Amino acid sequence: MHQHATRSLSQRLYHPLKEWVRQGKLTAGQRLPSSRHMSDALGVSRNTVLAATDRLLAEGLLVARQGAGLYVAQLPRVLATETTPPPKAVHYSSRGRTLLALSKTLSNGYRAFSPGVPALDLFPEAQWQRLVRQHQRNADVAWMDYQTGGGLAALKVAISDYLRLSRAVRCQPEQVIITQGAQQAFELITQLLTDPDDAVWMEEPGYGGAKACFLAAGLDVTPVPVDADGLDPALGEKSAPAPRLIYTTPSHQYPTGVTMPVTRRLALLDVAERCGGWIIEDDYDSEFRYDTPPLPSLQGLTEQAPVIYVGTFSKVLYPGLRLGYLVAPPELAPDVCRAQARLHREGHYPLQSALAAFMASGHFTRHITRMRTAYRHRQSCLRAALAPAVAAGLRLSEGHAGMHLLAELSSIEEETALVSHAAQAGITLSPLSHYYLSANKRFGLVLGYASANEQTLAWAGQWLSNAYLAHQTRTPDTPLSRDGHKTNVFQGGTLVVV
Ligand SMILES: Cc1ncc(COP(=O)(O)O)c(C=O)c1O
Repeated sequence: MHQHATRSLSQRLYHPLKEWVRQGKLTAGQRLPSSRHMSDALGVSRNTVLAATDRLLAEGLLVARQGAGLYVAQLPRVLATETTPPPKAVHYSSRGRTLLALSKTLSNGYRAFSPGVPALDLFPEAQWQRLVRQHQRNADVAWMDYQTGGGLAALKVAISDYLRLSRAVRCQPEQVIITQGAQQAFELITQLLTDPDDAVWMEEPGYGGAKACFLAAGLDVTPVPVDADGLDPALGEKSAPAPRLIYTTPSHQYPTGVTMPVTRRLALLDVAERCGGWIIEDDYDSEFRYDTPPLPSLQGLTEQAPVIYVGTFSKVLYPGLRLGYLVAPPELAPDVCRAQARLHREGHYPLQSALAAFMASGHFTRHITRMRTAYRHRQSCLRAALAPAVAAGLRLSEGHAGMHLLAELSSIEEETALVSHAAQAGITLSPLSHYYLSANKRFGLVLGYASANEQTLAWAGQWLSNAYLAHQTRTPDTPLSRDGHKTNVFQGGTLVVV
């Protein structure tokens, strides 16, 4: 208690002294009163004064002269100037410009319709924090050193057990490499297995995160159209160069939501085998299926499949955790670990340890089961709210799985109008056209329903339904109101989660 009080008093002395030096109220070369003098004048202990001046000495704001006390130092110009210069124009590389142009629809956080954001309001926060604290306290001192094993052994075991059982992935713990989310897995694979201008087949429409990674690496990214059975390898072979990588989300195509049947999976494996390429199987949300169990993974279909399986904890737990994994064939896994140690370094071992315990103790599967029920309800709630629009012609995807529905629209004008009206009401909508690389686009909205509670979804869904109906009948220059009825005065409103 006493220590705490001393610390806060010394901070109360340190901060104004620092400001006076920075603002030039104490000038360079000026001598400070002795610690005894300051302690008497301020009515605080000498230790308090010394704690504050020692910190200023360590930061270079004061200098000590042998036997002559403390003096204000000559500050470097950046510290002494208070004004921030105007930002300079940045010259971006053409790769950088492509990357930035892709980032139009980044998640808007904890709101209605955010695709890919789980129910943070239902996360067992207290239980998780307890576990994290416990694993932080008992952290192995060896974890403070650089790590090169591709992640904590206990977490690799927990993940491989889980994947073998729930996703029929053929995997031993040594094949699992823990990454900072799926995004880092894509990057490792790309850096290790491709050269600039190598061809990569990308689902069209498809996931922006993977696209960004391939484009940033200078790959020749060829969009291959997705139909009701997912990415079509026959179309790829007809129109695209032989691929070094094929990116696919076969369990639940992102964003259309279709599932790739076994025949097509086998055809895709055949293409990869013949071309000497690799398939990246992004299995980002297959835990959430509502009617039938998911098809087993593509990776597990055949022995020695040329597949790197990628998974993430961003959907089943929370995206800020930044933990995901890849499962590489045995001959590739040790080199992925080495590349990771070179490129990214590993970290967060106490967190990995807490997650391993969370999985081993059954909390993980219980959480998934609870979320499956919650998401089914949230989806029903959104469907109910959108029913009037559906009755008037809005086409909604079936929603057998995942955390979003796709609402198809008939034109870019309709998509643009709804997105901009929603923005005025504080609602961020993700336009389907942004998920395309080519000019041959379909239009619609990717409606995440996992992150908002039922009350919010009902409100936002009703708003969208009304806006859709109003758009069907409105004259082009009549703005929409917050509830979607025709009006001449727009009244914006921000949607917040309650
Ligand atoms: C298709 C797809 N794959 C992977 C991810 C997860 O990425 P990360 O693990 O980097 O958060 C997402 C997240 O939005 C996604 O939509």
